Amino acid sequence: MINLIACVGSGNELGVHDLIPGSIRRDLLFFKELTDGHPVLMGRKTYEVIGRPIHNRTNIVLTHNKNQTFPKEVIVKHSIEEFLEDNNDDNEVFVIGGGVIFRQILPYVHRIYLTVVDVRLDAAKSFFPKLPLGWVCVSEKTYPADKENSYAHSFLIYENKGSAIKEKISLITVPDDSQQPVK
Ligand SMILES: NC(=O)c1ccc[n+]([C@@H]2O[C@H](COP(=O)([O-])OP(=O)(O)OC[C@H]3O[C@@H](n4cnc5c(N)ncnc54)[C@H](OP(=O)(O)O)[C@@H]3O)[C@@H](O)[C@H]2O)c1
Repeated sequence: MINLIACVGSGNELGVHDLIPGSIRRDLLFFKELTDGHPVLMGRKTYEVIGRPIHNRTNIVLTHNKNQTFPKEVIVKHSIEEFLEDNNDDNEVFVIGGGVIFRQILPYVHRIYLTVVDVRLDAAKSFFPKLPLGWVCVSEKTYPADKENSYAHSFLIYENKGSAIKEKISLITVPDDSQQPVK
């Protein structure tokens, strides 16, 4: 099963934890707990922002560059198709970004864990994609700002209740409408 986890600003901006001072500690703890022990898939740019493999998870990094080297514990894939072919369905994988990867993997995703932070991030360069019809919000919990969380924030869970989730590799086209808000 493929899950997606992301934290966005109110304009769908990615990069919340890099762009706001103090950040949202509750989201960092949520990410840590939810993904602990599971494989995480990310794009090369997200890997470079993190700067090292995430502890206690199998780190899978997507890059087209066959010459780029990574630490030995990182599994490198050179296409979404290669990732899907090698992915064991029994494994709960978390796709952790960034926007380029989210857009391509969305048709294969079962559940989305989305934290929406009540802040606009004008410096953001990457955005979460608009969800196609069929994605339904099944859970929402909102918290106010406090001394450990610099802005109000909501934890949303989306499930795909409409269009069939692609289990097999096929040609897909996802419109590049990443500037649109999710809600
Ligand atoms: N708020 C959040 O939840 C969150 C989560 C993750 C990231 N972010 C932010 O998002 C930003 C990075 O996101 P991004 O969208 O710019 O980049 P990204 O998705 O992290 O990485 C893009 C790179 O992934 C590789 N790639 C993409 N598609 C591929 C494919 N089909 N096959 C093989 N390789 C592929 C390419 O690497 P090569 O160029 O090496 O070929 C591409 O340049 C950062 O600012 C990060 O902080 C935010």
